[in-house]
Amino acid sequence: MKTEILIQKAWEARDKAYAPYSGFQVGACVATKDGNYISGANVENASYGATSCAERNALFAAYAKGYRKQDIEAIAITAASERICTPCGICRQVFAELLAEDVPVILSNGKETACTNTKELLPDQFDSSFLEEEGLCEA
Ligand code: THU
Repeated sequence: MKTEILIQKAWEARDKAYAPYSGFQVGACVATKDGNYISGANVENASYGATSCAERNALFAAYAKGYRKQDIEAIAITAASERICTPCGICRQVFAELLAEDVPVILSNGKETACTNTKELLPDQFDSSFLEEEGLCEA
């Protein structure tokens, strides 16, 4: 996986964003270890809370194709904002569930690129380990 290609695919996905309310278009792309790229863009709703972010849509699409956290190499997120756009709180919680904690989360605004991961984005995360410890679910 080439980082530049992954970022480029996230930009291409951004063109498909449906953002009539905010006008803030975001693209994302998941690179899988077997060489696939799965894209997503933000999709908004007149009932604002029903909006879904680009990175969540890309990650859900990857899971819907059968990929799991061990299959994912990286995710890129792109937005043409002045500052590099970072994932919202809901997406961070989704990353905690669906993305291994050290998988690169690459952020680009077209001028700068940053790289982070779930561990940095959501320290002290609530995850399935709490439920496992209580015997409420299986590992
Ligand atoms: N948004 C994303 O898709 N990803 C982010 O990382 C931040 C925010 C979207 C949600 C909404 O459609 C728009 O940007 C403005 O909040």
